[in-house]
Amino acid sequence: MAREAKKAGTPAPLAQGAGAAPTPVTGEQVDVPGDARVRAKLLTISSSKGGSTKTTTARNLAVAAAHQGLRVCTVNLDAQPTLTAWARARKKVPGAPIIEHRAIVANGSIPEVKALVEGGGFDLVVVDTPPGVESHPVELRMLIRDSDLVVLTTQQASADLDSVVEWAKTVRREGTPFTFLLGRTARQQRNFDDAKSRLNDVGDLCPFDVRSAASVDDTDKLGIGNMEIKGDRCGVDFVGAWGYVSKRLGLTSREIK
Ligand SMILES: Nc1ncnc2c1ncn2[C@@H]1O[C@H](COP(=O)(O)OP(=O)(O)O)[C@@H](O)[C@H]1O
Ligand SMILES: [Mg+2]
Repeated sequence: MAREAKKAGTPAPLAQGAGAAPTPVTGEQVDVPGDARVRAKLLTISSSKGGSTKTTTARNLAVAAAHQGLRVCTVNLDAQPTLTAWARARKKVPGAPIIEHRAIVANGSIPEVKALVEGGGFDLVVVDTPPGVESHPVELRMLIRDSDLVVLTTQQASADLDSVVEWAKTVRREGTPFTFLLGRTARQQRNFDDAKSRLNDVGDLCPFDVRSAASVDDTDKLGIGNMEIKGDRCGVDFVGAWGYVSKRLGLTSREIK
């Protein structure tokens, strides 16, 4: 692991155990329900396009949740094995908080996902979905209906926004809460602020965007989250995004009393 990390030009994140990872900026540990019968929160990562940072978001939010002590399962509904390969690589990372993984064929997947949520003994099930929404429209709608929150990922280009805004209408019709998450952002580009305003106008926008960084590619290969690389800016962004998403899921509450 340490050798691999060096080769990728990144610090070895967990070589000395989980303590080597930076403390999540969201702080406190959350209460973990000890009862395996507790229903997990179902978080679906969705968008109408490939390349909109769904898989990257799924694994990074899962890592942030696992660092809070939550029992997390990631689900890959995509025929592409990207998330599954990452989960396999993670098993070999010393000291990394455990994240369970299931690769499920999207066709007819809903009962299996429901079983994981209702009886899997998890606190959080994170579902990564196939690119586009045309391939399995029935399953996707059912999944969205059953989800506690849908994160709609998008890049900041206007064509990406057109697409995700249209998809958000379908999600809204299913009655499930959702939030937009801007990923792979270039904050200095002038369309960044436009993108934020537009998404904020049409729905809920996660107040933390995820900046573009080459380290994302390293974390994919190494089976880690960006927050497990010391000082990684995407790690900071994803911890922030998780703080928001977990609040929306009712998993953490930091309101001032
Ligand atoms: N914040 C980021 N910075 C740099 N590259 C990113 C970032 N987020 C995603 N990527 C890259 O963008 C590509 C698409 O991301 P991915 O998560 O696979 O999208 P999707 O699952 O929606 O198809 C991948 O090559 C991934 O490594
Ligand atoms: Mg993907």
